[in-house]
Amino acid sequence: MLNYEDFLAEVLISEEALHERIVALGAQISHDYAGKKLLLVCILRGGVLFLTDLMRAITIPHAIEFMAVSSYGVGGRESSGQVRINLDLNMDITDWDVLLVEDIIDSGRTLHYVIELLSIRNPHSVKVCTLLDKAERREIAIPVDYVGFQIPNKFVFGYGLDIDDYYRNLPFIGVVDLPKYQALMEQTAS
Ligand code: PRP
Repeated sequence: MLNYEDFLAEVLISEEALHERIVALGAQISHDYAGKKLLLVCILRGGVLFLTDLMRAITIPHAIEFMAVSSYGVGGRESSGQVRINLDLNMDITDWDVLLVEDIIDSGRTLHYVIELLSIRNPHSVKVCTLLDKAERREIAIPVDYVGFQIPNKFVFGYGLDIDDYYRNLPFIGVVDLPKYQALMEQTAS
């Protein structure tokens, strides 16, 4: 595999900026959900790094759960328009205040589908917390309650977001130089 330095166009959000913003989101959520039955539902796989940092920044008692959802298909870069539940919740969410934790909202299709699905299971509330919001790509309007960063329409990776399933571990959000990445991948394949 390639080293990310070979195709990194820019660091869009540094590790320090991520940390600072997530601490602020955690404080806001702790305030807003004080005394409530808070359940963080992480949307795998991209949301996993965000969840683990966010939950440490939340100072009130809460539970966590996971759903695995895919909308892009294997190796795809554009939403297929199809949303598939690969792993559903393992608990009854009746009366819980559900907060969906996502890495990025793009077309809005994934969260639209998940919100509809969970809303009929009698939760007390369903809200959304996303680290990144690419609002100009939205195709379906969804309510977004907590946003880490509004970002431009660039192909980003790192901190949970992948390129062809790799690089999720990077501690920052970077922008891919896509022509360079593709050229390098072709070179390594030949
Ligand atoms: C990404 C991201 C969101 C979704 C956003 O997931 O984590 O779940 O796409 O796109 P949308 O707003 O257009 O629906 P992906 O399907 O790539 O799976 P992953 O998290 O496992 O990488």
